[in-house]
Amino acid sequence: MKAYNIAVVGASGMVGGELLGLLESRRFPVGEFYAFNSGREPAAVEFRGKKYACAAPTFRALKKADIAFFVSTDEVSGRFARRLAAAGTWCIDDSSRFRLSPGVPLVIPEVNGEEVGPGKKLIAGPNCTLTGAAVALAAIHRKFRVAELRIATYQAVSGAGKAAMKQLEEELRAYLGKGAASSRNGSFPRPIAFNLFPQVGGFDAEGNSVEENKVEGELKKIWGDTRIKISATAVRVPVLRGHSLAVWFKTARPCSLDSVRKELGRTPGLKFSEKPENYPTPLENGQRTEAVYAGRLRRAKTAANEFQLWIVSDNLYKGAALNSVQIAERIIEL
Ligand SMILES: NC(=O)c1ccc[n+]([C@@H]2O[C@H](COP(=O)([O-])OP(=O)(O)OC[C@H]3O[C@@H](n4cnc5c(N)ncnc54)[C@H](OP(=O)(O)O)[C@@H]3O)[C@@H](O)[C@H]2O)c1
Repeated sequence: MKAYNIAVVGASGMVGGELLGLLESRRFPVGEFYAFNSGREPAAVEFRGKKYACAAPTFRALKKADIAFFVSTDEVSGRFARRLAAAGTWCIDDSSRFRLSPGVPLVIPEVNGEEVGPGKKLIAGPNCTLTGAAVALAAIHRKFRVAELRIATYQAVSGAGKAAMKQLEEELRAYLGKGAASSRNGSFPRPIAFNLFPQVGGFDAEGNSVEENKVEGELKKIWGDTRIKISATAVRVPVLRGHSLAVWFKTARPCSLDSVRKELGRTPGLKFSEKPENYPTPLENGQRTEAVYAGRLRRAKTAANEFQLWIVSDNLYKGAALNSVQIAERIIEL
């Protein structure tokens, strides 16, 4: 079997760490392996039992890879990915830099994997928040067309990276130790221990947050449908890992609760529980899990053809690292 030289830019980060583990556990055919970080502090990562020192990326070093995973920052992806893809290296970008760029496929393999093709070497992976909804409702959208979608998110701190994880842990310790929350907010606009806040990213002129706009724009692109009306409220909660979503979706074509249930039961990448008490939670279903989980399907009381669903997925796996590795698996099948 052919082996592929792999670069991971952001190997020392949250997503980078999961990506390395998945390349190993899914036996991705890796030849040479190159690890990159910011270069600000010496760091090493372990891959297949060997230690690799991380270095700041350069175009020349990245060019040695057949496939480069970008799991660092928008700025780094912007600096390298397009040029590198033009020079022949497949670039799988988890940052938001190119997600809405025309000509760059935004891919969840179970939903629109056919967009991975030879001509397009720069491929983006979506924001971890909308992945759950994009996977869970894909088949329903195809069959009954989702015309309106309302989403409330309950987002784990790991979605904001390793510093944010550490901050929640530190705040919890300070709170339990001293009886007062830490005054250092760091990664977040407000204290996160024993708290939550309706802000993920900055706000636009209309008062929508960056995250809420990403949910709308990226979901429309992945489903290839700009007609859907999408409204979201993104909330950060003191959960370490696993994003949850409460969704209300209204279909354009009439459909019964039973037909929605049947469609959810056969949606690729989704594990759907019919019994209301078997709903998923981030602790039980969002930690190193590959599938998206859904439950509590019911008719909404607000309109005909409107339904409610609860969705949980692992932001670091299906929301980032796993999705990227699945894209790479598609690439080597081409
Ligand atoms: N966390 C999630 O759930 C999630 C989901 C989907 C997409 N993403 C995206 O994935 C990317 C990584 O997120 P993360 O949560 O893993 O963040 P993180 O834990 O903060 O890790 C960031 C990584 O990027 C590296 N880095 C920072 N500046 C760099 C530079 N100038 N040059 C090279 N490397 C640099 C860091 O290196 P140092 O260790 O040296 O600082 C670290 O390895 C982001 O673009 C994020 O938007 C994250």
